[in-house]
Amino acid sequence: MKTFYLTTPIYYANSLPHLGHLYTMIVADTIARHKRQQGIETFFLTGTDEHGINIERAAQQNNRTPKEQADYVVNYFKKMTAEFGLDTEHGGYDIFMRTSEPFHYEGVSEFWRRAARAKTPKGNEAIYKGHYEGWFCAACAAYKTEDEYAKPKNAADPPTCLIHDIALDRISEDSYFFRLSDYGDALLELYESRPDFVQPETRRNEVTSFVRGGLQDLSVSRLKTSVSWGVPVPDDPEHTMYVWFDALTNYITAIGFGNEQQNRAVGFEKFWPALHLVGKDILRFHAVYWPAFLMAAGVDQPRGIVAHGMWLDPNGRKMSKTLGNTIDLDVLSKHFPVDAIRYFCLREMVFGQDGRFGYEALIDRTNSDLASGLGNLSSRTLTMIKRYISGRVPSGVISEDKLLLAKRTGVDTDATTIAGFIEHARVQYLQELETYSFSRALEVAWSIIARIDKMISEAKPWELAKDVNQSQTLSAVLYRAAETLRWLCVMLYPVMPAATQEIWSQLNLSEKLAELDPANLKWGELKEGAPIGEVKALFPRIDKAKTIEEINRNTEDRSQETEAGGQRSEVGGQKSDDGGTSMRADSPGERVRPSGSHATEADAVPGASQNETKPPTPQHATEADAVPGATGVANFVDIADFTKVELRVGQVLTAARIPKSDKLLLLSVDIGEEKPRQILAGIAEHYTPEEMVGRKIAVVANLKPRKMRGHESQGMLLAASVGENDKPVLATFTEDVPNGARLK
Ligand code: MSP
Repeated sequence: MKTFYLTTPIYYANSLPHLGHLYTMIVADTIARHKRQQGIETFFLTGTDEHGINIERAAQQNNRTPKEQADYVVNYFKKMTAEFGLDTEHGGYDIFMRTSEPFHYEGVSEFWRRAARAKTPKGNEAIYKGHYEGWFCAACAAYKTEDEYAKPKNAADPPTCLIHDIALDRISEDSYFFRLSDYGDALLELYESRPDFVQPETRRNEVTSFVRGGLQDLSVSRLKTSVSWGVPVPDDPEHTMYVWFDALTNYITAIGFGNEQQNRAVGFEKFWPALHLVGKDILRFHAVYWPAFLMAAGVDQPRGIVAHGMWLDPNGRKMSKTLGNTIDLDVLSKHFPVDAIRYFCLREMVFGQDGRFGYEALIDRTNSDLASGLGNLSSRTLTMIKRYISGRVPSGVISEDKLLLAKRTGVDTDATTIAGFIEHARVQYLQELETYSFSRALEVAWSIIARIDKMISEAKPWELAKDVNQSQTLSAVLYRAAETLRWLCVMLYPVMPAATQEIWSQLNLSEKLAELDPANLKWGELKEGAPIGEVKALFPRIDKAKTIEEINRNTEDRSQETEAGGQRSEVGGQKSDDGGTSMRADSPGERVRPSGSHATEADAVPGASQNETKPPTPQHATEADAVPGATGVANFVDIADFTKVELRVGQVLTAARIPKSDKLLLLSVDIGEEKPRQILAGIAEHYTPEEMVGRKIAVVANLKPRKMRGHESQGMLLAASVGENDKPVLATFTEDVPNGARLK
């Protein structure tokens, strides 16, 4: 039996997945189901990448051990994949791989040993010990060269990652290196000899030119004292393996490389090589580093690497936790049928290119293509069979003497015309699937729906039913529609497993859709006279305005919950201010934040003058305040109320006294927005302008702007109020924090 091994990336266990991660799984799941329908024994892997500094940091931030952090994320993943029908039970992945598995430790250690024994194509040792000096992005888990980071404004600050906009870590330590620089020619030969090794072609060209540009050796270990959460380097446990070396190797350890038990359970020889499905963001790791590691360890190359594009928000920015514009999967699954989401992802995104996500577009597609399209075709056909033909599959044959009558109603008397159209569409559909052109494949499938809809509208079965002479025409029309539905179920099963199964059951068919190859469909095999099942509506229409409103409400509730729970942090505290924030439905490109209001100085600081009214004293921004039983708090507020206050890190750029005011300082403060905020603060008796410049402070960013002494104040500083005189002592930070980071 033929075999096929397909992988998704294994996802970082530092934060919960969003639509971007779901997308790769949906694509992989569709491919895997299609292969299985073809009778190919398919092994489909997904899982989590659990080691490295970003997991360590996320764990620390959430008061968990790294393993607890990974378990937490894995639990969510498992719940989510079950909900979206992607897990083993629903016919999805075959293994949820975790790099914390002992068999992985064994396998990856063996892989390292093999590479460490190997010579490069130029006769050098493939792995050698040296000293690494440079910058590292924890979120990318990648070393950054000069052209990959932004230099800081202040020379003393670290540079920032161009992708994640977070401060890089400086690394200066002994490290093992992989001699990547010796593999350039071998890699180019690989791309040359196997033109489909990297797909689509544009990505192949990118990879080729990257390698042509010259490769540098790669640091493949960290000192255990810097990164302890990882696989120890064999025979040198003071070092842990670089997380990408460890993570990429999961693709072979999962099926048994380096561990006999796992090998018996799955079968390395049986399934390797794999097809790796990845986002274009991690192509270099898969198409350059991984093949080089495999060459060194003497393991066969993958079947290929297929890169898809990124989901962007409607403003064209990549969807990511760091930007706070992700689509929350719980909100998504609450408002949309799983198959509508699967269909939308595959239909809307031109595979390989980036695509924009918008809830409106999702609702529109669900209503037009699914409710009015496939769903309507199914329910009207089956309802008419129930009503006019007493619920049994009618005959598709029109006898000679009735042909003319049928023709008069616009019904094509030659059944093969419809069959021919659909057969041709099936060939096209399958060709598009083979090249991962899901969007075009679905267009083709929907052309079948349009064709049959047209046949029904023209033939008007409800009119035919009134004329006994037209009973054969009526039967033939409904037979053709029902037979088309049967074909559509088999063809569309990999894209919409649940909905096609539902129609299949309504047709009262019992073979397993998962095992029917659409290439083997033959027109006319729907058995005449067989009773159809119970007819139920598929894909109810979605009320756009109402749903958008609900999504907005839900998104806000969710971010409040998750922010409160501290569960959604990313990259161990570096840019985790917006961990739980998701895209709303009405302003999809915007971060969820209370809209455009600013604070006033008088609100900000105790001790401001009379007409600059004094605010209620700010509370501490910890979750404990909202917990009943916390001490020292007179009136509790809900976490929901607390999160209405937008607190951000600001840096004072300029500070000046205000004429005729002893108390006020006029500050301009950078809170991570395009323009600095102007803030009046009643602290002049305690802080000089000079003392303030450069200081990092906590700012309430969403109080209503207010004018005082002719100046608008667009924010409020937080300060402790100390002693009888309410002396303000500014809240500040002892560690480096980026401007604009959210306090919560
Ligand atoms: N852990 C590494 C992969 C190691 S594989 C040996 C990693 N993990 S990740 O959690 O960051 O997930 C990356 C993958 O998630 C991307 O390659 C892509 O498949 C998917 N996506 C994440 N954000 C995405 C979008 N905005 N759009 C589409 N896919 C995205 O990198």
